[in-house]
Amino acid sequence: MSNTLDYSVGRLFSLEGKTALVTGGSSGIGLMIAKGLLQNGAKVVIASRKQDKCDLALAELSPFGDCMAIVADVTSGESRQQLLEQVAARLGTLNLLVNNAGANWGAPLHEYPDEGFAKVVDTNLNAVFSLTRDAVPLLEMAATESDPARIINIGSMDGLHVPIVQRVPTFAYTASKAALHHLTRCLAVELGPRHITVNAVAPGFFESRMTDYVLGEFRADIEDDCPLGRVGEPEEMVGIVAYLASRAGAYTTGTVIPVDGGTNIAKGKRAWMDEEQG
Ligand SMILES: NC(=O)c1ccc[n+]([C@@H]2O[C@H](COP(=O)([O-])OP(=O)(O)OC[C@H]3O[C@@H](n4cnc5c(N)ncnc54)[C@H](OP(=O)(O)O)[C@@H]3O)[C@@H](O)[C@H]2O)c1
Repeated sequence: MSNTLDYSVGRLFSLEGKTALVTGGSSGIGLMIAKGLLQNGAKVVIASRKQDKCDLALAELSPFGDCMAIVADVTSGESRQQLLEQVAARLGTLNLLVNNAGANWGAPLHEYPDEGFAKVVDTNLNAVFSLTRDAVPLLEMAATESDPARIINIGSMDGLHVPIVQRVPTFAYTASKAALHHLTRCLAVELGPRHITVNAVAPGFFESRMTDYVLGEFRADIEDDCPLGRVGEPEEMVGIVAYLASRAGAYTTGTVIPVDGGTNIAKGKRAWMDEEQG
């Protein structure tokens, strides 16, 4: 048991000296998280498929600290293996794995293609399982009882409720995120005794490439649908990650934490539905 009497927020939430891998760290939520980790003293590796996006992100992130960008496709076994080898070479051990890379596909049911469904499940679920399994040795090397290694899966509020605001159904996305939330619980039970916590963050709408179109078209509906009446801000994503990754979150595992302004529990009036139904 820790016998410190220092309950200052500065110590409780410190990320100083932590090592982190953020998949999909080249844009959107992953980039927000990577920036927050770096600004608080962590060493960060980001990974995504496209060299140009990695280059741009690295240029943006480097002023904030020790960062490396690796081109990797998390849906490829070979690529994941190379990624983890480079992470080991650069960071030695891993305090934090953020499984953030994700994909979406929207189409009406009768047109929804098998390959679209498979791609989304492969990225949002299968790749998270495989990368996590293979990263455990690196995480275990960093893990102690009082300061466990951490895995944070970026789920979605759409894995908690059935999304409607986008108009176009996203069957694979919503199902893959719900499965990811449950995988989080299973892995938390499995890895707890090895001093690794596993949690999921379920974001609502945040500005990103993935939400560009839907926010452009339906922002007013999205805000109307959210009890707090707005989309999320980067600090609100960094805040939850800092909690889960720091001393403060060391006894929290197997949770799915919505960061969505209450949208997933709001079943109230949707002004746009009233209009469409006349
Ligand atoms: N933004 C939101 O409102 C929102 C809400 C709920 C949940 N989320 C979740 O948050 C995560 C990030 O999404 P975002 O909104 O930030 O979207 P985004 O801006 O499109 O970012 C997705 C990131 O994942 C990378 N990526 C995609 N497929 C990959 C693969 N196979 N291997 C490696 N990297 C890959 C992309 O880079 P490359 O193209 O270079 O690979 C990019 O860096 C996703 O899991 C998403 O489901 C987002």
